[in-house]
Amino acid sequence: MAKILLISGSPRKGNSDHIISRIFDKLAGEKDIIRLREEKISQCLGCSVCFDTQECVQKDLMREIIVKFQENDIVVLGTPNYYDNVPGLVKNFFDRLSPLYDTDLKGKKLVVIISAYHEPGSESLMNCEQAIRNFARLQNMDVKGVFHFQGQEVDDVQKDPKTEGKIDEIVTKIVAL
Ligand SMILES: Cc1cc2nc3c(=O)[nH]c(=O)nc-3n(C[C@H](O)[C@H](O)[C@H](O)COP(=O)(O)O)c2cc1C
Repeated sequence: MAKILLISGSPRKGNSDHIISRIFDKLAGEKDIIRLREEKISQCLGCSVCFDTQECVQKDLMREIIVKFQENDIVVLGTPNYYDNVPGLVKNFFDRLSPLYDTDLKGKKLVVIISAYHEPGSESLMNCEQAIRNFARLQNMDVKGVFHFQGQEVDDVQKDPKTEGKIDEIVTKIVAL
């Protein structure tokens, strides 16, 4: 059975965090969840040492998270859309995954949840999706699904009666990967 790592990338306990939390609740089997806003993850220093050594010079939680990335078969990332892109919290997370660049992630499956003010399929969401796809391509990850949710206030997605059904569909797709 696949091992699944869920990443909640919002600075707040809002829409994308709700979806990631519900997916986590509904998944059976081996699973782990990391909420980036709750963790102390330093900024990428840009030293580029990790491109040669496959190890960051900073000894923080990212060392453990990188091992989790290597050990899990599927990563599910939930993120809000900020300025047609991911928030800084997620971008720094991507940057801090650089020790894995061109190494271990080949074929690792990635499922993406994006929450945004604009409607699903809109240019703003597609731009954010593309930014994540660019990261996945450069890290040799295999994007298996991208799901858009619309919401502005912290609990818009949670209050939408259609949300739970959409989450069930996503869980079914993840289990089938
Ligand atoms: C700094 C900032 C920038 C944002 N930029 C966009 C944007 O470019 N497009 C969009 O559709 N929504 C944008 N939003 C709205 C959020 O994507 C939206 O509220 C989303 O549901 C937040 O997800 P969360 O509750 O998981 O944090 C922005 C919100 C903030 C705070």
